[in-house]
Amino acid sequence: MDILVLGGGGREHALVVSLAASPHAGTIYVAPGNGGTAAIAQNVPDLDILDSNAVANFALRNHVGLVVIGPEAPLVAGVADAVRQAGILVYGPNAQAAQLEGSKTFAKELMQRYRIPTAAYASFTDRDAALNYLTTHHAPIVVKADGLAAGKGVIVAMRDDEAQAAVKSCFGGKFGQAGSRVVIEEYLTGPECSLLVFTDGRTVLPMATAQDHKRAGEGDTGPNTGGMGVYSPVPIVTDEEYQQMVEAMQTTVRALTAEGIRYQGTLYGGFMLTPQGPKVLEFNVRFGDPETQVILPRLQTDLLEVMVATAQMRLSEVTLTWSPKWAVSVVLASGGYPGSYKKGKVITGIKQAELLDDVTVYHAGTKLDEDGRLLTDGGRVLDVTALGDSFEEARKRAYLASAMIDFEGKYQRNDIGERALRGRSAWEV
Ligand code: AMP
Ligand code: GLY
Repeated sequence: MDILVLGGGGREHALVVSLAASPHAGTIYVAPGNGGTAAIAQNVPDLDILDSNAVANFALRNHVGLVVIGPEAPLVAGVADAVRQAGILVYGPNAQAAQLEGSKTFAKELMQRYRIPTAAYASFTDRDAALNYLTTHHAPIVVKADGLAAGKGVIVAMRDDEAQAAVKSCFGGKFGQAGSRVVIEEYLTGPECSLLVFTDGRTVLPMATAQDHKRAGEGDTGPNTGGMGVYSPVPIVTDEEYQQMVEAMQTTVRALTAEGIRYQGTLYGGFMLTPQGPKVLEFNVRFGDPETQVILPRLQTDLLEVMVATAQMRLSEVTLTWSPKWAVSVVLASGGYPGSYKKGKVITGIKQAELLDDVTVYHAGTKLDEDGRLLTDGGRVLDVTALGDSFEEARKRAYLASAMIDFEGKYQRNDIGERALRGRSAWEV
């Protein structure tokens, strides 16, 4: 079966690596793709992945059997709907279901109606009403732009004036249309943990827990990034918490079905493990990036079969098998990220790093030049993933491999997974 994957980051490289391993995979097209996907698939740099008709037409013209949608923007824009309408299988939810990530108010209302544990909240379309609410609800408090803001629309305000400024900047247009509605939320504490599931709207198959490191600096300091490193599974989660997270995901899918919305694809629950149990911070309607880079290397079931079964609503026929190993991934970024940084630096050492057992280097922001040299082409450049029989072994190996790779301005966090090694008490303040 020929496949079209939409996206061009580390997540998509990981998806393509796993799909290409399937005996049923034919040609894999990736739009736009990157330097890593170019080596194992056919990049399609010119396809506008937000243009539903263009994507559906490309798939029809090239006899693509399955379209896999990586990022949230095409999902929210309804690309999955158009591809389904064209009679082609698609892995990823329709626009209605994608509201779970596309509108925080939609997600909060659904959680409230179906008693899914989440922070208490209020939603506003009026700036003065929001500011008025802050006169009775004090910091620490969390202000969120309702719509998609590329991960930047959440302000955790530790002081009242920060919360007020956040409300003003949302309504002032800082996040464009995404900020014309604002959610103000109760401040929660605890370790964060993500749980991703495959679902076809009936069956929910949990993947694994994962924990990202969003801040640029060591010790979780500095500005927010797309993610500087990740591990899976999360060792500090208790069995009871895991069950509660699975239950929350099942309830969410049942809730959508009850509302007449069918969800087919990956559902990502971002949780905070509070003293009252896990509570949902956010939903994503897609695989996480970089979470995918530690989850898929542990999946032993054929990913293509799982995706086709999801698209055909036959997920109940699938059993997932996972490697018992631990996975840790370290992001190698361009110096300056998430601020401004340089591109076009020559990357060396990937081949040597991949000679180590259980090491895979996923490309997040790379490209090949005319001479076939691999160059940096983004803020996050590479995700160096290692598996190990213990958490510590995976971590050591990921850092050993990272040290073998070089490019000018290379930046990495050296404490990925360090807190988890110290145990649950490392989260207590
Ligand atoms: P989100 O994009 O909703 O995951 O939010 C980004 C980050 O903001 C999360 O990973 C948390 O660290 C933090 N955050 C979001 N909501 C809350 C909350 N209610 N209480 C405390 N921190 C939060
Ligand atoms: N790593 C968080 C996300 O994919 O949204």
